Amino acid sequence: MPAIVLIGAQWGDEGKGKATDLLSGRVDYVVKFNGGNNAGHTVVIGDRKYALHLLPSGILSPGVVPVIANGAVIDLEVLFGELEALSARGVDVSRLRVSANAHVITAYHRTIDRVTERFLGKRQIGTTGRGIGPTYADKINRVGIRVQDLFDEGILRQKVEGALEQKNHLLVKVYNRRAVSVDEVVADLLGYVDRLRPMVTDTALELNTALDDGRTVLFEGGQATMLDVDHGTYPFVTSSNATSGGAATGSGVAPNRFDRIIAVCKAYTTRVGAGPFPTELHDASGEFLRSHGFEFGTTTGRPRRTGWFDAPVARYAQRINGVTDFVLTKLDVLTGLERIPVCVAYDVDGRRVPEVPVSQSDFHHAVPVYEELPGWSEDITGVRRFEDLPQAAQDYVTALEGMMRAPISVIGVGPSRDAVVVRRDLLE
Ligand code: GDP
Ligand code: IMO
Ligand code: MG
Repeated sequence: MPAIVLIGAQWGDEGKGKATDLLSGRVDYVVKFNGGNNAGHTVVIGDRKYALHLLPSGILSPGVVPVIANGAVIDLEVLFGELEALSARGVDVSRLRVSANAHVITAYHRTIDRVTERFLGKRQIGTTGRGIGPTYADKINRVGIRVQDLFDEGILRQKVEGALEQKNHLLVKVYNRRAVSVDEVVADLLGYVDRLRPMVTDTALELNTALDDGRTVLFEGGQATMLDVDHGTYPFVTSSNATSGGAATGSGVAPNRFDRIIAVCKAYTTRVGAGPFPTELHDASGEFLRSHGFEFGTTTGRPRRTGWFDAPVARYAQRINGVTDFVLTKLDVLTGLERIPVCVAYDVDGRRVPEVPVSQSDFHHAVPVYEELPGWSEDITGVRRFEDLPQAAQDYVTALEGMMRAPISVIGVGPSRDAVVVRRDLLE
């Protein structure tokens, strides 16, 4: 099973970090192919908790080669900060590979992210403020700074000058900020060059060669399907392709090499930031999910919006990504609920709509049509076999599976590394 893609099915924070960690002991490479330090992936190993933002979660597993591929965006200060923090905790970070083609987040991208959000007022996206959108905008606009540009001071200066030419007008005249100095940006970036150089390589070549040699490569997605810039709830999305196709363009490994597409999906739904969320709860049930599931952002600490499971969203994720297996996480969080509503379709202005509507207005108007399933009260965090789950929990999983169009192969029953019920091996 050489190439496996792992992505989020909903609006992020599904537990991709934990699912990656579950597989990392048996893979050779873990690749970050999209996004940057907007991600927050949590891995709990024994009594140790790690929050990875920019680095792929696989870095925690000895023997794994972690890769930041071309599709990701890199804040160098964050990169070295995370590497130092992990080193200090005894993690070997020496194998990290960084693509020469990945784009670099600079101070002006962070500034523009924050000022544009402020100017949007009520139409704010609620970004993480990490400079992600402006960096991808520069990439598409062909004025971005790539990792390889740092190794030629003349080229770097030219590119920073080019990028700042328009931006400084905008910052000063529209946003009322001070102009950014080319010298400061160049000096800042050059300060990382010596440490960066040994990590930088042609990661597309290395990954394809590794696959030719029979190695196993896991592509760990950041964000999720509904935050994908093409397929998510635009404009309330991130600026990269978080769906499985992004693993190909974001790494240089062709789609026909992918053997398995794993989507991580919560047993309910959460979202951070603005945008439509049909099953969102504003009542005590929503508070129940937030407090039992510890639903507070790993990156920004913001309380996550919470709601019931949305089957049309799961089906959409299956379709857009070609999901072969679902990992259903946080089933334990539902313990104690007498009845659990599940959204099976939407009511859009009086019409029953079974799938995620293509029109943004329709999705904003979508009112969930619920089916109620019986809950359970037994603690399930110690369960390791499907048949040992309470009957109602088994029935909940089976009912969801019937709506998702791909098997639920793994079930999460707690945050720790071993708190899983494996029904089908994800690597065989
Ligand atoms: P990611 O961004 O998809 O990696 O997810 P986050 O790490 O941001 O959020 C998921 C949270 O749920 C983390 O705090 C995990 O430790 C936790 N978690 C993952 N799987 C489970 C599970 O099955 N049960 C419970 N209770 N917590 C889980
Ligand atoms: P992981 O990988 C949840 C959301 C932000 C905002 C929108 C755009 O941990 O699942 P951005 O800073 O990317 O321009 O913000 O996307 N967002 C996430 N929400 N989990 C994430 O990552 C997210 N990364 C970005 O809250 O609504
Ligand atoms: Mg997260």
